[in-house]
Amino acid sequence: PERVNSKGWDLTHTPTLAEIAQGRTALQKASFKGHPLTTAAHKYPMAALENAQPVTNPAILGDLVGEVQVASAKDIGTALDTATPWDADVATRAAALNTAADAYEANANEIFAILTREAGKALPDAVAELREAVDFLRYYAAQATGQQKARGIWTCISPWNFPLAIFTGQIAAALAAGNSVLAKPAEQTPLIATRAVALLHDAGVPPSALQLLPGGGDVGAALTSDARINGVAFTGSTATALRIRANMAAHCAPGTPLIAETGGLNAMIVDSTALPEHAVRDIINGAFRSAGQRCSALRCLYVQEDIAEDLLKMLKGAMNELHVGDPWHLSTDVGPVIDAAAHKGIADHIAQAASEGRILHQIKAPSDGHFIAPTAIRVKGIAEMTKEIFGPVLHVATFKSSELDDVIAAINATGYGLTFGLHTRIDDRVQTIIEKVHAGNIYVNRNQIGAVVGSQPFGGEGLSGTGPKAGGPHYLPRFAAKPAPMTDT
Ligand code: SER
Repeated sequence: PERVNSKGWDLTHTPTLAEIAQGRTALQKASFKGHPLTTAAHKYPMAALENAQPVTNPAILGDLVGEVQVASAKDIGTALDTATPWDADVATRAAALNTAADAYEANANEIFAILTREAGKALPDAVAELREAVDFLRYYAAQATGQQKARGIWTCISPWNFPLAIFTGQIAAALAAGNSVLAKPAEQTPLIATRAVALLHDAGVPPSALQLLPGGGDVGAALTSDARINGVAFTGSTATALRIRANMAAHCAPGTPLIAETGGLNAMIVDSTALPEHAVRDIINGAFRSAGQRCSALRCLYVQEDIAEDLLKMLKGAMNELHVGDPWHLSTDVGPVIDAAAHKGIADHIAQAASEGRILHQIKAPSDGHFIAPTAIRVKGIAEMTKEIFGPVLHVATFKSSELDDVIAAINATGYGLTFGLHTRIDDRVQTIIEKVHAGNIYVNRNQIGAVVGSQPFGGEGLSGTGPKAGGPHYLPRFAAKPAPMTDT
């Protein structure tokens, strides 16, 4: 549809950077509140929280970012009882979403501060995330039409790794189609979600059309096991998606849609014709940016044997240049992982590889805070990788030219199909490989993260999700009972 993506913030422009740095400074010690926002209580921030739980910074464990009051059974009951599809006309709904997009941009410094302190986002990641959230709002606002008929009540459950962008994208699509949304943010990131819903309410989305219910798995279970729910949008792990599907099968009307975007075991193939400097830059970004905490991140690199020694030498040199630390500092490339449980799972995986003598390279990371040192581990192939390691860990295998088909078969055999990267300068090979690999998003001679709304609809197949792709023309119609004709915009 007609609209323009957010122009964002140019961090190479010194005055812009200085302005952002100054704007964030006042918020370095600020305390934020997270709490339910329902038809019964929709004032932000809530005056006094009940049973408040601390929200701490994953980089500095002593930094209390704020407090959260999780949703009670009473809040969930109120939300379900009072949720009402948004019957305003389509122009009013689109206008509110566009007003919210402007408000997100106007509150950029506060949003950057919360994303950094609550979710451990380095500033370039926080900027990219805010842009994506704004783009989702404007894209779905532009795509809304009077022909779409709301399904009713949608539960939207979002992940901590994109606590603003994915959170907002699900909600915006459901609202654009006129539904009522019950949003459950990730347990780790309630503060940014509460701020975002307050901005959406201020922009004109009525509380009966958008209620926020922070909490953990029990809140998610309640919101996916109720006959009044007419659809669920979920982004997170494959295991949780399967639990949600079982809840819905047991409690919701037959045919209630589930839109799930889940994990990946994403590979990249680098053949001997690739430009090594270019490939290394894209490997570093794909594997280590956002501390590897993207479902799109590169997990298993296949390098053709003939160039492996040179390329790996260059890769180690590039890894040595990464700065791991507090993402509040502008020099930080790799921030912390989200929490102690994530840290333990990744550290155990690295320790196992170390005990088997398979560490190719590892750099240093601070010992306090939930930091994992970017690590490269040797593997024979992707078949050895039975689970997604959601952190800054790259697995590296080599292949001979004659083994290319076997490599592709092994990538497809994982059952996942989210992103795939290819570096080659042989045009025919690009065509053959992209036709054979099963993945939702395939990137050639670039990194495989950071899909752009409207240009690169994002989503996978197989164990990676149900489709439709977010930020593309087919997403919003799935939230409507009577989909408008699909157009290729
Ligand atoms: N959309 C994100 C990316 O492309 C992942 O969720 O990196």
